[in-house]
Amino acid sequence: MYKLKIIIGSTRPGRKGAAIANWIFDIAKQHREFETELVDLAEINLPFLDEPHHPILQKYEHQHTKDWSSLINGADAFIFVSPEYNYGYSAPLKNAIDYLFKEWQYKPVAFVSYGGVAAGTRAVQAIKQVVTALKMVPVTEAVNIPFFTKYINEDEIFTGDAAMEATANSMMTELLKWAEALKPLRANNMTKIKKEAA
Ligand SMILES: Cc1cc2nc3c(=O)[nH]c(=O)nc-3n(C[C@H](O)[C@H](O)[C@H](O)COP(=O)(O)O)c2cc1C
Repeated sequence: MYKLKIIIGSTRPGRKGAAIANWIFDIAKQHREFETELVDLAEINLPFLDEPHHPILQKYEHQHTKDWSSLINGADAFIFVSPEYNYGYSAPLKNAIDYLFKEWQYKPVAFVSYGGVAAGTRAVQAIKQVVTALKMVPVTEAVNIPFFTKYINEDEIFTGDAAMEATANSMMTELLKWAEALKPLRANNMTKIKKEAA
């Protein structure tokens, strides 16, 4: 079974991202090849990057970094649930990405974005170039939700329509293909990480 982490990219009070993350979490859980966990950056509460060394060295001084490293190290694949802020993605998501380097490598990442008419697609395009610097593989299939508030009820529950569900399932299938294809590279990478740490 592959370990999938769904990362909620928004942290602000009153955010809608959690409702959307819960929706994709429920769909992802039906894909039994994955053991899926929701990761809430608001709970993780990382400060602005405060490590003195480049993350490639993995010489972490702070417990919050060691915990974050261990959580991301334990993953085989990701879904980033991303808002669009001023045509980009959120600062907390960028900060969380920048904390680490090798922990992200050779892992596929799929995107669920939401916004107005552009459905958060500009944010996703911006994340894609960043994740490739980390040797992650961005999955083409994505759920991009325009005018997302239409799908959130008074109890803050998001319910996607049939088209969104179908796309989400195709995205999961593709994520699995990449998680499998990149497995040898991840195994090799972990051996190196362990040797360097020894
Ligand atoms: C700082 C800020 C900038 C925003 N910029 C955009 C934008 O560029 N495009 C867009 O579609 N929506 C934009 N919005 C509206 C968001 O889509 C909407 O507020 C959404 O709820 C944000 O996600 P969140 O609730 O998970 O934080 C912006 C919202 C905020 C707070």
